[in-house]
Amino acid sequence: MERGGGTPLPGKRRRTRGVLLAVLAVLLLLVVVAVVVGVSVRQKAHALKPTFMARCEAFKGYDCEKIWGVFEQAYVGLDPCEVPMEAYDPLIAAVPFKPACNRMMFWSKTKDVVHDFTEKRDCFLTVEETLLGSVLDGLTWCGKEGSRETFTTDCPGWSDCENNTVRSFWNRVSTAFADEACGDVSAMLNGSIVMPFNPTSVFASIEVKRFHFPRVKSLKVVLVTQQNSVTNCTNASLKDLQEELDQRITYNCKEVAEAQLEECGAHPETSCGSCW
Ligand code: APR
Repeated sequence: MERGGGTPLPGKRRRTRGVLLAVLAVLLLLVVVAVVVGVSVRQKAHALKPTFMARCEAFKGYDCEKIWGVFEQAYVGLDPCEVPMEAYDPLIAAVPFKPACNRMMFWSKTKDVVHDFTEKRDCFLTVEETLLGSVLDGLTWCGKEGSRETFTTDCPGWSDCENNTVRSFWNRVSTAFADEACGDVSAMLNGSIVMPFNPTSVFASIEVKRFHFPRVKSLKVVLVTQQNSVTNCTNASLKDLQEELDQRITYNCKEVAEAQLEECGAHPETSCGSCW
């Protein structure tokens, strides 16, 4: 008896369908695994807590888990544009700044050059080298209404709104750091811009206002210059800085070439005072 030309037998058809289903199941499994791995890698790459904890644990004698808990309370569940700087008060109370008289270094628009220098030489301390400054340096974070999570993407930028999570943190931390300023205070400002002392900067709007005599005796401005620098110590904005200060605080300004700072950073054995 002839069978219909090429038509598979019912048994063969079932086997083919079985193989197809098996292939589909394997493919589906692969897709699920890829998605799960992808999501967890992405979460790890963006998660704030591991970075916070690792940086915090570099400082001995602190309960970093507790500090993280206090930090989170400032912003979780809130609109990221509605976090006032006072929200971080409990964090500052949990990790108060220790005064570092004669070693405190402030800066404005010189972030890379100042840290290149202070990392190599043990003479000065910037806020970014303290525990609270270091754990969040260069990072972005925010919360969301109705969520207990910390987000690191789609957070408002520095200028998007006044009371944003990140800006309020730096304003609060800079306030607390400047409140501890004592003795001879230094500030590295940028001689390559027309307004090294900019009234909208954190240095001008927050920190300088908290330098009080007799706790602060002097302010030494290091104006970092390059070959084609547009500014020197006679700059108008630096006159404003002088006027802003309590007149009993001694002010001086020195132009220092960036190359000289690099050279000095390369020789940590020389005394702190000899760089400028
Ligand atoms: N977007 C994101 N971050 C910003 C922005 C911005 N548009 N502007 C300022 N910041 C944050 C960054 O962390 C940046 O590195 O402030 C830092 C310093 O900005 P500058 O304008 O260069 O300087 P200033 O505002 O004067 O703040 C520096 O504050 O960080 C403390 O004690 C520190 O004395 C220093 C001062």
